[in-house]
Amino acid sequence: MDAFVIEGGRRLKGRVSVNGSKNAALPIMAAALLADGPLTLHDVPDLSDIQNMARLLGELGCKVAFTDDGHMRLEVIDDLNCQARYDIVRTMRASICVLGPLLAKRGKATVSMPGGCAIGERPIDLHLRGLRQLGAEIELSGGELVATARELRGAKVFLGGTFGSTVLGTANIMSAATLAKGTTVIESAACEPEVVDLANVLNAMGAHVRGAGTPRIVVEGVEKLRGVEHTVMPDRIEAGTYMCAAAATNGDVTIDNCPLDAMAAVADRLEGIGISLDIVDGSDPMRAAVSVGSARRLEPIAVTTQPYPGFPTDLQAQLMALLTLADGNSMITEKVFPERFLHVAELSRMGAALYRQGPTVMVSGVKKLIGAPVMASDLRASAGLVLAGLAAKGPTTVNRVYHLDRGYEKMDQRLRALGAQIERVKMT
Ligand code: EPZ
Repeated sequence: MDAFVIEGGRRLKGRVSVNGSKNAALPIMAAALLADGPLTLHDVPDLSDIQNMARLLGELGCKVAFTDDGHMRLEVIDDLNCQARYDIVRTMRASICVLGPLLAKRGKATVSMPGGCAIGERPIDLHLRGLRQLGAEIELSGGELVATARELRGAKVFLGGTFGSTVLGTANIMSAATLAKGTTVIESAACEPEVVDLANVLNAMGAHVRGAGTPRIVVEGVEKLRGVEHTVMPDRIEAGTYMCAAAATNGDVTIDNCPLDAMAAVADRLEGIGISLDIVDGSDPMRAAVSVGSARRLEPIAVTTQPYPGFPTDLQAQLMALLTLADGNSMITEKVFPERFLHVAELSRMGAALYRQGPTVMVSGVKKLIGAPVMASDLRASAGLVLAGLAAKGPTTVNRVYHLDRGYEKMDQRLRALGAQIERVKMT
C-alpha cells in the first residue's frame, strides 16, 4: 500500500492546472448507456474511481476505450447484462449512477445495494423514490436492488431529503427521464454544476432538459439519444484543494483551468481568511487562471457546508486543515454529511486543537502543526491531512493514499512541481 511522506514547511510556488471533474465525469460516463452511438469524452481525469466506472460499464456491455490523444470513447456493443455486481459497487458508491440509465434504456437493472461508507450513512431512498415515481418497480433481494420498468412515464418527482437534495439522485432521475414518455418535473433538484454538465451532455445527445442548475428541472422525454463529444468541466474541488494548499504554506500559486464561476462560496470563505484570489485570465470564468496569495496572518472564520451554491462538503477537511493555523477560533459545521469528520482525530495527532460537538467543530488555531504518521479512510479527509503535512514542521506520513488516488490525479507529482517535498513510498 502506498503512502506519502511529506517534509513540511516548503512554500508552494508556481502553476497548476485543474483536471476534469471526477464527480461530473462519473454520471456522464453512465449516460453513455442511454445513447445509440459512441460518446467521446475529453478531460476525463485518470483516477481509480473512473477506472472502476469504466470496468462496471464494460461489464454492462459498454466498450470503454482510450484514444491515442487521451480521450475516452464509450459505446454500447451489447445490452444483455444489466447487473452491477457488489464487487464493484462496494468499491465505488457512484456505481448507483447506472441505475437510471439502465432502467430507461433496457427496462431492467440489478444494482447491488451500496453499503456503509466512511463519511457516514448514505441512503439512496431518494433515488428509489424518484425512479418509482417514473413507474419503475424496485425490490430488494439478497442485497441487490432489482428494478424493472416496462416503460418509464414522466411524473412530478420531489427530491428533497433531510439533508437537502441529492446530487447523484438528481443525475439518476434526470438521465432516466430523458427516455421516459412525457414530461418529468424534478422539484428540489440538486443545483450542483456537475448536474449542469450532465444536462449539457444529455441535451447535446438529443434530450430536452431545462432548468438544470436550479431546483426545478423539466425533462421532456424523447425516443432516442445519439452519441456526442463532450469536454468534462474542471474539478472545483481539486481547484479548492490546491487553493487551500497554497494558503496553508503561505505560497504563491496560479491555478489554471479553474472553474471560479462555480466557486463563489469557496472564494468568499477563503477571502474571509485573508487569502487573495486574483483573476489573471477570466475570459472563460469556468476555466480561469487565478493567482492565490496568502497573508501571513490567517483570520478565523465560521463556515457551514451546504448543498450548492453553499460551501461544499468535499472541501470541509481541507479548509479545516488550513484553519488549524488561523489566529483564533473558527467554527465548521457540516450540514451535508454530519459524520464526515474522520480527519479530526488525525489532525489532532499533528497538534491541531479541535473540539467537536455533533456536526460542529471548533478549530482553535495553533502556531504550528507537527508532522506525524496519519491515515484516513476518506478521500477528502486524506487531502486535508496532506495539506496539514505540507504546512507542518517535520515529517508526516499519510498512509493508505489509495483513498486520495480515487479523486486526485498524481497529487504527489503536482505538489512536487510546486516545490513541495513529498514522496510516494510503498509501505508493507
Ligand atoms: C455526491 O455524492 C458526490 N459524489 C460526493 O462527493 C459529495 O460529497 C456529495 O455529492 C455532496 O455534494 C459524486 O458526485 C460521485 P448526495 P451523492 O446524494 O450524490 C442524503 C467526494 O469526496 N441522501 O447529494 O451520493 C445523504 O446522506 C464525494 O468526491 C439521502 O438522505 O451525495 C447526504 O446527507 C464523496 N437520501 C445528502 O443527502 C438519498 O437518497 C447529500 O447526498 C440520497 C442522499
